[in-house]
Amino acid sequence: MKGIIFVKLNQFVDELWGDEFWDELLQDAELPSDGIYTSVATYDDAELFTLVGLIMEKKGLTGQQAQMAFGQWMFKQLLEAAPPEAHKFTDVFSFLYGVQDVIHVEVKKLNPEAILPEFEFIEETENSLSFHYLSPRKMCYFCEGIIEGLADHTGQKVAIEQTECEHEGDARCVIKVTKVG
Ligand code: HEM
Repeated sequence: MKGIIFVKLNQFVDELWGDEFWDELLQDAELPSDGIYTSVATYDDAELFTLVGLIMEKKGLTGQQAQMAFGQWMFKQLLEAAPPEAHKFTDVFSFLYGVQDVIHVEVKKLNPEAILPEFEFIEETENSLSFHYLSPRKMCYFCEGIIEGLADHTGQKVAIEQTECEHEGDARCVIKVTKVG
């Protein structure tokens, strides 16, 4: 996973619980990198899951709660680092198509070692969009959180659910976003 995700996790934890808590996490995690992260480097995914696991344990959060909160906070940060094309989308649905067709494609070109999730769009109606979230990392809850942050950004009200989820015993994850109100 790209260092930016770790640098931002550090910032998220600092903002929410203070930097002593981040230091405590690093001490307990005993990570190969020692928690010295830079945006441009790449680190083992296992370090992310160790840190998130410790946050869950110490703060009494489920994996779903922890990943969603981090994802929602993360959207703004990703947008700041995004290619210029990302700023032209003003609607949640067109933004999601844009992530798959343009934004993650550009991210991959600039960082060939990045592993980006794939979105396979299944159904769109006037108010809803469903897509299959495909990633070896199985971070569908993080994805749901990012979409919450995206809707905050566009000023739209949405309901997000998974009609199928690998963590619930299904064969795949299907995320459905519905515009409400
Ligand atoms: C705003 C512009 C965006 C940028 C610049 C961006 C960039 C990135 C980068 C750099 C990573 C890390 C990849 C790696 O380290 O291998 C990532 C991961 C991810 N992105 Fe995006 N992203 C953006 C928007 C979105 C949106 C809107 C969604 C949700 C629909 C999304 C879903 C994800 C997920 C779920 C991951 C975690 C990795 C995985 O699931 O395999 N991204 N993105």
